[in-house]
Formats: sequence, C-alpha cells, structure tokens
Amino acid sequence: MPTAIVSDIHANLPAMESVLEDIEMRGIKRILCLGDVIGYGPEPRECLQRCSAFDVNLMGNHEEAVLFDPIGFNPRAKAAVEWTKQQLMNSDCPREENAALWKILDSMKETHEEDDVLLAHGTPRDPIREYLFVHDCEDDPTKVEELFDSFTASTAFVGHTHIGGVFLPGPRFQTPDEIGGRFQLGKERAIVNVGSVGQPRDGDPRSSYVVLHEDQIEFCRVEYPVEETVRRFRRTPLPENLALRLVEGR
Ligand SMILES: [Fe+2]
Repeated sequence: MPTAIVSDIHANLPAMESVLEDIEMRGIKRILCLGDVIGYGPEPRECLQRCSAFDVNLMGNHEEAVLFDPIGFNPRAKAAVEWTKQQLMNSDCPREENAALWKILDSMKETHEEDDVLLAHGTPRDPIREYLFVHDCEDDPTKVEELFDSFTASTAFVGHTHIGGVFLPGPRFQTPDEIGGRFQLGKERAIVNVGSVGQPRDGDPRSSYVVLHEDQIEFCRVEYPVEETVRRFRRTPLPENLALRLVEGR
C-alpha cells in the first residue's frame, strides 16, 4: 500500500491543502508526518486540526519549542514560536478546541519504525533537533557515517532542513532531479529527506513530499497558491521575510 510521507508544513494551510489534494488524487490513504506542522506560518490551529487525521505524527523542533522551550532558535523564530503559542491558547476559541490542539501536540512521538523503515524529524540519533545538511557529506563525512551507524533499518526518512534528496553511504547526496525523481529501495541503505510542504528551501517554491511504494520512493512537487499564503501572513504580526521567502522557495 503506497504511503505519503510529509514534513515541515509550518502552518502553511494553502500548501497543506494542495498536497493533501494531490495525495488523495493518487488514491493514497496512508499519511505519515515527520513534524514541524506548526511554526513560522499563519495558520497553526487549522494545520494541527488537519494533521490529527494522519496515521503517524512525529514531533519536530517547532512543536518541542511550543510545548517546552525554544532551544537554538534565533530571535525571529523565537517570536514566531511565542505567537504560535498564543494562537493555540486563543481565549476567543472554545476551551475544548484549544485543549484538543494541545493534546495533538502532546501525543506526537519522537520516532516511528515499521517495515525496515525509521522515521524522524531531524536525524535518526537526535530525532528532534539535529540537522543533516547536504554539505555535511563534504565537510563532515564522519558525522554522516555515524548517522548511518545510529539506526538499523535499511532506510530512514527525515525532514528539518527543508531540502529533499537522498543521502547514501560514502557519504554522498543525490538530489531528486539527479535520480529522475525516484529512488530504488533495497540496493543501498539511505537517509531520505522528504523536503518541506510549507517552506521549501531548495529554490523551488512548490511543496515537496514523497510517496513510499513497495520498492521505490517517489519525490513529488505540488504547486500551491503562494500569494494566498502571503496574504494570510499579512493578517498576522509575523515577520514579512517569513512570507516573502516562500515566493522564492528559500
Ligand atoms: Fe522545519
């Protein structure tokens, strides 16, 4: 049964809705989410409500920051965390509705394992906060090898950097374009970054997610109404640069 794996929605509802439509059009019923449903974007309540229907929800560093403390966040990101927190406690909304949102956050797991696959937001060894960057393959190959040694499944899926692609032992990194949008499973171990639904940073503003088929991974890009998200940002006090970066996908 094909499964959609999404990550880093970041309270961007138009992007989330476009991706969910794409998933539905493909007839896919199972959705796993690698975290950061909230943070940065203007519609945290709506995105959390929608993600409660997913089959798995992992905790990202933005959920952790809202639930506990914003560790390692720059001042702008910290301000967005505080604003998000206020939205989830909005006293104009029914108390039970707010409680349900916090319950969703509280129920998020750090990792999930099934069928020789491990899921985490950051990395397999530090599932919430650690980044695995593309440049680590050149700058810190030992780190990448250690990450491969830190889990036993054949394939790990992560998000967090908002840049999709496949890390392979060696180590090396392949972009989705370099592999024709598909990665064959079973030949080599891999750490697959699924990219970001709501704040892609690879220069392509379209939402990114993957479909896990029986023997391969398919990278998917979905156009969404970015200008609509930018308009929704303008109704909030969130910094403008968070909206404008979406237009460029940076
Ligand atoms: Fe993120």
